[in-house]
Amino acid sequence: MASSQALFLAVFISAIAFYSRSADANFGQSMYFNWGSQHSWMGNYGNDLQLVLDRTSGSGVQTKNAYLFGSIEMLIKLVPGNSAGTVTAYYLSSTGNKHDEIDFEFLGNSSGQPYIIHTNIFTLGIGNREQQFHPWFDPTADFHNYTIHWNPTAVVWYIDSLPILVFKNYQSEGIPYPNEQGMKVYSSLWNADNWATRGGLVKINWKSAPFIARYRNFRARACTWYGSFSISQCASWTPANWYTSPTYSQLSYGKQGQMKWVRDNYMIYDYCKDTKRFHGQMPPECYKPQY
Ligand SMILES: *[C@@H]1O[C@H](CO)[C@@H](O)[C@H](O)[C@H]1NC(C)=O
Ligand SMILES: *[C@@H]1O[C@H](CO)[C@@H](O)[C@H](O)[C@H]1NC(C)=O
Repeated sequence: MASSQALFLAVFISAIAFYSRSADANFGQSMYFNWGSQHSWMGNYGNDLQLVLDRTSGSGVQTKNAYLFGSIEMLIKLVPGNSAGTVTAYYLSSTGNKHDEIDFEFLGNSSGQPYIIHTNIFTLGIGNREQQFHPWFDPTADFHNYTIHWNPTAVVWYIDSLPILVFKNYQSEGIPYPNEQGMKVYSSLWNADNWATRGGLVKINWKSAPFIARYRNFRARACTWYGSFSISQCASWTPANWYTSPTYSQLSYGKQGQMKWVRDNYMIYDYCKDTKRFHGQMPPECYKPQY
């Protein structure tokens, strides 16, 4: 082999060793149980998952890989009936005391009462950015598509392709943005009856156990992260519905309209409106456009 070819090959191989854009296909290939595997279930060739909570424990899964940017999708059918006190969590997180985290959490409720869809984002270990919604559908009657789009310009939370929340990159203005730490994807079902339902007033009714959350079609169209690579290598990743160029990216007008509809009609808590909590000193991103 000519030495230039050998050099090319060596560079090429080292490049793919640190970075690969992948579509991790399903739960079976991409995830493993980190908790409660004895009573949980993965099947249908790794496409379907059930997390279970009973008196003995909850359960959870996590991805083998960490990712830096991408589109993480899963279809979830939440615990039906009396799910008060249960929380189904679905989030991305890095590790360490300055971790980044992007959250979806579903707080159960008594039969016939609405779930709360709870969101948050941590950057460099700091969260306190809760926003909450009531679903505009029964999340226990069928599977719904919960997707987190995360690219260098923004993070967008989608439900059935409707954006509900955007966190834009205002790092140049001193607001930390998650773009340096790879995050794994986690999901779990657990007992949070000390806080979840009506602030902890409603306890789990164990007569309704086992509680089961059902999942389908996990897909990570994402950049796999092996501990180091420059952001620019992944910056060309453009999830659907984004106009992406190095300096500009935002939701289409249609998507902005959908997000406004959700937020006007179904949002029940927004940290950016909670002036009491922040003593009037609102977090800086609250003054910036988020769409
Ligand atoms: C889930 O929603 C995302 C975001 O809108 C979309 O790109 C994806 O195709 C949807 N997946 C399924 C299985 O519906
Ligand atoms: C449960 O239902 C009550 C009454 O409708 C509602 O106020 C609350 O937001 C619901 N969700 C949770 C998780 O408490």
